[in-house]
Amino acid sequence: MQQNNFFITTPIYYPSGNPHIGHCYTTVACDVVARYHRMKGDNVLFLTGTDEHGLKIEQKAKQEGITPQAYVDRITDSFKQVWSLLNISYDRFVRTTDAYHVKTVQAVFQKLCDRGFIYKGTYTGKYCTPCETFWPVKQLVNGCCPDCGREVIDASEEAYFFKLSQFADRLEDLLLNTDYLQPKSRALELVNNFIKPGLEDLCVTRSSFTWGIPVPSDPKHIVYVWIDALSNYLSALGHENDQFSGDFKQFWPANAHWVAKDIMRFHAIIWPALLMALDLPLPKRLVVHGWILMDGQKMSKSVGNVVAPKPLCDQYGVDAVRYHILREMILENDSLFSPDVMLARYNADLANGLGNGVSRTVAMVEKYFGGTLPAERCSAPVDDALIAAASALRSKVEQAIDASRLNEALAEIFSVVDAANKYVDETAPWKLAKDLQQKARLATVLYNLLETWRIVSGLLLPFMPTTMPRLWEQIGAQASDTTYERLDQWGTLTPTVSVQKGAVLFPRVENE
Ligand code: MSP
Repeated sequence: MQQNNFFITTPIYYPSGNPHIGHCYTTVACDVVARYHRMKGDNVLFLTGTDEHGLKIEQKAKQEGITPQAYVDRITDSFKQVWSLLNISYDRFVRTTDAYHVKTVQAVFQKLCDRGFIYKGTYTGKYCTPCETFWPVKQLVNGCCPDCGREVIDASEEAYFFKLSQFADRLEDLLLNTDYLQPKSRALELVNNFIKPGLEDLCVTRSSFTWGIPVPSDPKHIVYVWIDALSNYLSALGHENDQFSGDFKQFWPANAHWVAKDIMRFHAIIWPALLMALDLPLPKRLVVHGWILMDGQKMSKSVGNVVAPKPLCDQYGVDAVRYHILREMILENDSLFSPDVMLARYNADLANGLGNGVSRTVAMVEKYFGGTLPAERCSAPVDDALIAAASALRSKVEQAIDASRLNEALAEIFSVVDAANKYVDETAPWKLAKDLQQKARLATVLYNLLETWRIVSGLLLPFMPTTMPRLWEQIGAQASDTTYERLDQWGTLTPTVSVQKGAVLFPRVENE
């Protein structure tokens, strides 16, 4: 089988505060896609990291009386801890303070200069003296500094600019006429808001603070944090550095960058323009999702409405948290985070639908057959719908995941969970068990249920990687029964399968 390379990335997060459920959404989504591709046999490189430079970080460190490096080391650790808690299977973690990354950014900047896409000019704007920060007029709040609220003055400084305006036509074409942006519905918004009004050249250096990567030929200037940050997708593959030899050739262009809508503009306009200027291939896909809202607003540290992942994982289990944040999110829309919805969905889908469905099946195999099914079979027409639904599930899930619609993949899987539970009601195994003539029929019903749970749990593995192997032990599935190739093959479990009662997979959570 030919192995495809698959390179997927999350944004690199600002270590300006500990990660919350909003950050987790993108990372868990990418983790599911990465695991799914590994399951299909692809050669996956899953990248995440932290974006550690900039004035904000410099200021935060100062407030705490520590160096910016000590500050980012601490918060970056807290990101790594949360990713390990959530079972994130990233292959590489890039930090913009890593020496190899710095090397790439400086080389990229120099290359853009050499190719004539960067020139020196004057940046004019409003300046907040106490914060030592330039602000574009449109970022001011009531004409004052958005950070400290004090008055700003007119000021200008020497800076370098990237000729972004040259790329307007190619960017419009990329957004409107190719599959780069997903969902496509966001393309018009970008074209109308940013490209049509006239793309301006982009100021790509700052000189009012020092926590950043110096311009190699003019080190009093610091490379703009977004040029620094976007370059992570190249540096982490060893482009223009000698850290990861061969990876750039193997994995670039990226198969998918996942981001939320707040940073779509940087990835849909600035990033492709930079790559065009560098004459590098463009990423195949940019997946843009909405926000997780809390009380009607974006969940974010600055709003102060964040939900931390740890207490939720303690209460529900890690897999349930992974399930919940993906189940609720429709790619085009924002989604509300609500503890009530989480509780109701957990109990309905996981505790009752899946967990109870599996444990009931296992209990019946134990009760009626001592734990091992006999080989005799007797089919009935009522079986056909369940067998058809379970056999068709893999291709539906594949389509949904390929379209980055993870909530739809879960909806498809849980419609088969419902079908299995309905099948129990329709076939009433407890009635069959009373009639000795019906042993073969009873075994067939229970086998069909075990097969359905095998397919369902195999497809759920990327979403719930801890619980599904525990489920397999209970239904008697071997590792070879749950490989991707077997997940659309009905009749994979050995006919005389033995089950094993185990701990409750998803214990009910009561409303406190
Ligand atoms: N450092 C930049 C990204 C540079 S990428 C080259 C940045 N960092 S961030 O820490 O602010 O993280 C932004 C990303 O976090 C969003 O794009 C999104 O992926 C995720 N989210 C943060 N809050 C979120 C929600 N409330 N809802 C959904 N995703 C959110 O921007």
